[in-house]
Amino acid sequence: MKRILLAFLIAGFSFSAMAQNAYNLIPVPKQLTPAEGSFTIKKGTGISIGDEAFRSVADMLATQCQTVSGIVLPVKIGKASSGIVFVMNSTLGDEAYALNVTSKKIEVQAKTGKGAFYALQTLMQLMPSQIYGKDLLTTALTIPNCNIADEPRFSYRGLMLDVGRHYYPVDHIKRFIDLMAMYKMNIFHWHLTEDQGWRIEIKKYPLLTKISSIRKESTVGRYSDKKFDGKPYGGFYTQEEVKDIVAYAGKKFITVIPEIEMPGHSQAVLAAYPQLGANADRIYQVGTKWGVSEDVLFPREETFTFLENVLTEVMALFPGPYIHIGGDECPKAQWKESRFCQDLIKKEGLKDEHELQSYFIRRIDKFITSKGRKLLGWDEILEGGLSPNATVMSWRGTAGGVEAAKQGHDVVMSPNSFLYFDYYQADPKTEPIAIGGNLTLAKTYSFEPYLPELNAQEAKHVIGIQGNVWTEYIKDLPYAEYMTYPRALALAEIAWSPMASKNYSDFKKRVTGHLPVLDVLKVNYAKAFLKQ
Ligand code: ACM
Repeated sequence: MKRILLAFLIAGFSFSAMAQNAYNLIPVPKQLTPAEGSFTIKKGTGISIGDEAFRSVADMLATQCQTVSGIVLPVKIGKASSGIVFVMNSTLGDEAYALNVTSKKIEVQAKTGKGAFYALQTLMQLMPSQIYGKDLLTTALTIPNCNIADEPRFSYRGLMLDVGRHYYPVDHIKRFIDLMAMYKMNIFHWHLTEDQGWRIEIKKYPLLTKISSIRKESTVGRYSDKKFDGKPYGGFYTQEEVKDIVAYAGKKFITVIPEIEMPGHSQAVLAAYPQLGANADRIYQVGTKWGVSEDVLFPREETFTFLENVLTEVMALFPGPYIHIGGDECPKAQWKESRFCQDLIKKEGLKDEHELQSYFIRRIDKFITSKGRKLLGWDEILEGGLSPNATVMSWRGTAGGVEAAKQGHDVVMSPNSFLYFDYYQADPKTEPIAIGGNLTLAKTYSFEPYLPELNAQEAKHVIGIQGNVWTEYIKDLPYAEYMTYPRALALAEIAWSPMASKNYSDFKKRVTGHLPVLDVLKVNYAKAFLKQ
């Protein structure tokens, strides 16, 4: 066994080593064989597609080539012995592709448009970095010859953006999605509701956008400083905007998972609908401080009706399988003090408030499952007993994920110790304010989702990984890009590339070689890793 592992490692190192320089591919492909020579896109180069499934990807390639070279690449259905050809290969996996570049022909094989899209991302990374821009190229549009066979290690390759603490306009969300797609990430987890702001239009509850989406002021600096700016802050996405973003992501083969937080992180809801909390007569306000609010939803029938109505509208907007219901950081003090909650605990034969939270999540799970969707929640949903159909997102380290996988549940590993991109990535003295932590690019890259505690069967429940961009301190897109890149490149590689190819120094070289692409795209990436 050890010998096989060693052979894999050596194979991995050698192809990774070859992947330097001209082949700065991120994530590194499963197999890459470099070759002498190159293919040049010139006047007369055509694109042939063996199936209509490849048309949108072929059009993307043609458009980008035309933008930077002025060359029109006609896209035709059929076969060809030269030029760029997309061939249907039904023996490949849905996300797999093969890419063979010779001086005469570029051949992409895929089974689906998605596979072809990933081949396109690889092909683009093999071209001069200006392919990503809008300016006319000064050099030829060449692609080094090579043979690549590639497919992802994990099916879930995600990034989360918190738009509750800070609102990101539609165009900025699209840009966030654009960058994800370049590195073959396929899940955008959209954290839409928070104590400090509700950001999605729900037609049945107009106060969610009228009241819950606006806070009267925001925290300035560290929240322990208790300083406020006195300026109202708000924003939300209309259902039309949500549909537009979901469709936009879909064209880049990214599924959007909405998160509607419950029962905690719901203070903004209570500002509009106080009857869903501890005290209907209390005046709640949308949160202005960061941290965990004591004001939580109560497990009343009225609350379940509200949540089911909200989720019904949400499910109509998001066609993907998963609906994230939060479930994290729900303080139990108000439930402890409540006669209603204590009576419900007795009536339902529950042990304590943790089991009451489990009762809450089970009811929501039943509802979501009845609609043919899957519930996804943070690892606190394990406390008090895991709901039967839940998938667990492990954030407080990996213990929750390990526990859930051992119980036979699917798991997304998103440990704060490796994948929280709101953490510092270098010495805080030299960095803009961040929530804390110490998470260098190398540390992120070192994460291995198959934990030693899991046997082979249990490890199969680890469906992938996710990086999280919480935005208490991250007010806008340039800041978010600074925190996300290049760490998201490490995430993309862990999620996609074979374990055997893992090699930080090779990865760092490829990232360094790839920086001109980020420069062309004007990504505000952090450079600290270069000196680490
Ligand atoms: C979390 O970071 N509260 C999921």
